[in-house]
Amino acid sequence: MAPEVDSLFNFVNAVSAILLVGVVAAMLWFVYRYRRQDPAERPAPVKESKLLEISWIVIPTILVLLVFNWGFKSFIKQKTVPPDAYDIRVQARQWSWVFEYPNGVTSDTMYVPEGEPVKTTMSSSNVIHSFFVPAFRVKQDVLPNRYTSVWFEATKKGTYDLFCTEYCGRDHSEMDAAVKVVSRERFDRWLKESATPKDIPLPELGEKLYGQQGCQGCHSLDGSDMVGPTWKNLYGKTGHEMSDGSTVTADENYLRTSILNAGDKVVQGYQNVMPSYANLSEKEVAGLVAFIKQQSDNELPQE
Ligand code: CUA
Repeated sequence: MAPEVDSLFNFVNAVSAILLVGVVAAMLWFVYRYRRQDPAERPAPVKESKLLEISWIVIPTILVLLVFNWGFKSFIKQKTVPPDAYDIRVQARQWSWVFEYPNGVTSDTMYVPEGEPVKTTMSSSNVIHSFFVPAFRVKQDVLPNRYTSVWFEATKKGTYDLFCTEYCGRDHSEMDAAVKVVSRERFDRWLKESATPKDIPLPELGEKLYGQQGCQGCHSLDGSDMVGPTWKNLYGKTGHEMSDGSTVTADENYLRTSILNAGDKVVQGYQNVMPSYANLSEKEVAGLVAFIKQQSDNELPQE
């Protein structure tokens, strides 16, 4: 899409530049040529010129129609998804992106095969975000409760920036991701390797999900404060203060509830912004809980 968008953009720019120079030059010339030299002098009435009037109606009309036709053709092309496009699910949330592939693999980096049309099916778990990859010249709002999509065909291998370009709250400016364009072979290999094997130890599964599900966007492992509480020494914490004034002990059940239904218990000093992860399987939740436990030196007090 990029060459098409750019050529139209450059055309509009060039025409504007030519007109600007023409108008300013004519203006300066008239200022000089028709300056009043003799205070008693009165300029003769200006006579109408049919040729001039017709040309300043016809020429701009042609230019505008040309730009419209050109832009409309590109627009139709951008909106018509090729039937064989590869479909990637895009989930936006405050404040991260998750990409899901047909075989169930999820990732916080968007991998796409080079030279093949890719279609995104996008939705948001909370507010309006916007999917923007400047290098591909695609931009589309991502809405809650509705799918939107874009398609593109990446023609050059490399890593490109993906931004959220709709103000969506505190960490909007940090809501970015990478788009990695790789060869078909590498793409297939990556897809296969990323598929979660069934019998991986729980903490390892949790660690994988920590990256894939975008947890790391809000929860640190080193104790630093981000959008959400750190996971360091979270497990086993007693007298953990909630925003409603209650305190809890951070045991397994607390962690489980917080993953599935974060809004139930919001930690004092934090915003209720975490989406529900009820789409995770029991095993995946168990994996995350096990991983969070691993980040803690606390022993749960015996009752
Ligand atoms: Cu999401 Cu801005």
